[in-house]
Amino acid sequence: MDLANFSYKTENDALVIKLSGHIDGSNAKSIETAVFSALAESSAKQVTIDCEGLRYISSAGLRVLLRLRKTAGKINVINTSPEVYDIFEMTGFAEMMNVSKAMRVISVDGCRLIGSGANGRVYRIDPETIVKVYNDTETLDAIKRETALARRAFVLGIPTAIPYDVVRIKSGGYGSVFELLNAASFADLLSSGEKTVKEIAEMSVDLLKTIHGTVVEPGSIPDMKSVALGWATNLEGYLPEDQHKKLIELIAAIPDSDHMLHGDFHIKNIMFQDGESLLIDMDSLCAGHPVFEFAGMFNAYRAHPELDRPVSGSFLGISPLTSAELWNRILHLYLDGAGEETVKAVEEKAMIVGYTHLMRSCIRKGGLETEKGRAMVDSCRRHLAELLPKVDTLTF
Ligand SMILES: Nc1ncnc2c1ncn2[C@@H]1O[C@H](COP(=O)(O)OP(=O)(O)O)[C@@H](O)[C@H]1O
Ligand SMILES: [Mg+2]
Repeated sequence: MDLANFSYKTENDALVIKLSGHIDGSNAKSIETAVFSALAESSAKQVTIDCEGLRYISSAGLRVLLRLRKTAGKINVINTSPEVYDIFEMTGFAEMMNVSKAMRVISVDGCRLIGSGANGRVYRIDPETIVKVYNDTETLDAIKRETALARRAFVLGIPTAIPYDVVRIKSGGYGSVFELLNAASFADLLSSGEKTVKEIAEMSVDLLKTIHGTVVEPGSIPDMKSVALGWATNLEGYLPEDQHKKLIELIAAIPDSDHMLHGDFHIKNIMFQDGESLLIDMDSLCAGHPVFEFAGMFNAYRAHPELDRPVSGSFLGISPLTSAELWNRILHLYLDGAGEETVKAVEEKAMIVGYTHLMRSCIRKGGLETEKGRAMVDSCRRHLAELLPKVDTLTF
């Protein structure tokens, strides 16, 4: 059937029905016929109603959706304009169906670039807000995930920028909008000499204790142990069999924990504003034992600067020597007066998990095809061969 306000297609196992213009008593009947014939023809498992071009829907139109829901089961309604979203909300349909708003479109032309990291570039869009524009490789799901995790941390009282919405960028791709922190990163404070390594270590440990002392609802954020088990499992065939087996046993034996971890805790992801330290970059937020946090920090402060010197030297903005000193001070402070031997033992546990992650991610990114990647994998393998026999638990 050829109708101006209706079209459909099948996309990833979903029947996507596009509605546009005005839908009211004058055309609801013919749209209903078209919708049900599309449904009868389709073998899709889900129905999505795309409202991008829809300006108005009356009760007659909503009744079509009700009948569709009875036949098709759960339906998703996407891309609603603010006006159409209000109609869904006022009628209670927003609770019955999974209704989501259209994304705002914003332009970053002429906006000041205020930072960049591995996943994207950050622009100031007005005096209160920034947008993080993601590299093409980030999927919309991953972007929404980061915003959702940031929101979860925010409501649990973790000091961080308010996450607003996910937007479309006019020149292409997606971004997420956050509160602008009028702040310098810990990396800036160190490289400008405003703070000493000792001060930054103390501030880092205060923040680490806040994060690690925060209890999350089980299952509400990713479980780091399962993630790490995934890395280790994927190293099968790349490590000698006995080492691989021991690595998996060690990770599996780490007790489950519902305490929060940041997952990418380093001086570029911590900002300092009005005397307060604030975390950003929340996409790796998870729950688990602190050994996993320390593994990530070991990689940022020690392994990358050593294995990847030219890149990470400029990445953190401090010399490998300074980042090694920072790491060492953080470990001592966190472990609160523990002796050298204990500190060394904790470092070795963090190294095992850290090199496991590094090796896995290097192989996954095709590292074995480049000379630099092979050198990195070899180095991880050597470290693991040396460390694994020394350790009988990864907890502390
Ligand atoms: N809310 C914010 N306010 C001010 N600056 C920010 C904010 N978020 C990020 N930045 C700046 O942008 C940089 C990159 O952001 P980040 O979220 O860490 O991206 P990536 O995931 O690519 O590492 C940060 O190091 C910081 O300098
Ligand atoms: Mg970052």
